[in-house]
Amino acid sequence: MASGCRPVSGTKNGYGELDAGAAVDAHMKDFPINGFHHIEVWVGNAYQTAHYYRAVHGYSIVGYRGPETGVADTASYALQQNDVRIIVTGSLAPDHELTRHLALHGPGVRDVAISVPDAGRALELAVARGATGVAGTTKVEGDRGSWTHSAIKAYGDTIHSLVENPAQVWPPPDFRKRNDSIAVPIGLKAIDHVVANVALGEMDDWVEYYERVFGFVLLRHFDDEAISTEYSALMSKVVWDGSGVIRLPINEPATGMRKSQIEEYLDFYQGAGVQHVAISTEDLVSTVAAARQRGMGLMSVPETYYEDVPTRVPGLDADLDEIKRLNILVDQDDGGQLLQIFTRMMQDRPTFFYEFIERRGAVGFGEGNFKALFEAIERDQAERGNL
Ligand code: FE2
Repeated sequence: MASGCRPVSGTKNGYGELDAGAAVDAHMKDFPINGFHHIEVWVGNAYQTAHYYRAVHGYSIVGYRGPETGVADTASYALQQNDVRIIVTGSLAPDHELTRHLALHGPGVRDVAISVPDAGRALELAVARGATGVAGTTKVEGDRGSWTHSAIKAYGDTIHSLVENPAQVWPPPDFRKRNDSIAVPIGLKAIDHVVANVALGEMDDWVEYYERVFGFVLLRHFDDEAISTEYSALMSKVVWDGSGVIRLPINEPATGMRKSQIEEYLDFYQGAGVQHVAISTEDLVSTVAAARQRGMGLMSVPETYYEDVPTRVPGLDADLDEIKRLNILVDQDDGGQLLQIFTRMMQDRPTFFYEFIERRGAVGFGEGNFKALFEAIERDQAERGNL
């Protein structure tokens, strides 16, 4: 992204403090947003990826689009678990954009699609505010109804589709609907937040982008002192829509003794992109128990992590032995408690992963866990020889 960013209001507000400027600005009311619509992941083999998401993460495969439905060069599967909607797409042609994307980045999130009441108006506004349009306003029709979408560029090769879907058609209108009688859900409910990793010096540009284009505001800021270990550090700012339906933390690497995990991501993804998608659950203990049963790879924390939990999160309403056995992370902020866990990397490259989060009133992102999490990531990073 071009330089020339302006400073974000109230930047240095310390560790996890709510920013004074986080109230809804009148200006954003002309860019109404309903929330996240879906994410699309570009992969090497959509067929196998869809089956993995079903068998291990419990998604239903609800739709398909490919050569059999008149699309010659890609194969896509639409997945669903409650309000979490994911499309996985693979390419059938060596010269397709997806094939080049895959060669460069490896599998990863291509599209963080946002639900809007008017896709045409949203595109017009976004472009007028300096966003780059990547797809004009298009109506997609099928037997089950229609929706209208457009798209703009985000960080790296990531895009934001702007989807106008008042009839809540899913799978997408041009997909062939499938009934999935095999999937057994694990309690995943909705997309909670989507985290970007961007290059050193670009975090503020992207914060400014979301403020300018969408009218988002800075919610939180974590500096490298708050988020650092012996080896690496990162800085993070969270922008949101003001009502809580969209939260986008943006990370950039900070200088540490060795290569930071954000740098490792940027090296392997060849640039900025989505680091993780956090998905909410109402009962993380059962979600994780089911996930472990199915062989899901999850990031683990050392036993020592649990030593200070009773003091750090007093009155935790959960069986600590169970939490420990399942390797769940716990945190607390002004709003309440929070339980979370991170999956291992979803692909061979150390780039994209998922988080599962149960909010018991907490509004943060598990800041108290950042350090424990980073140390866990660094152990894996060291094993890969990248620390
Ligand atoms: Fe997160």
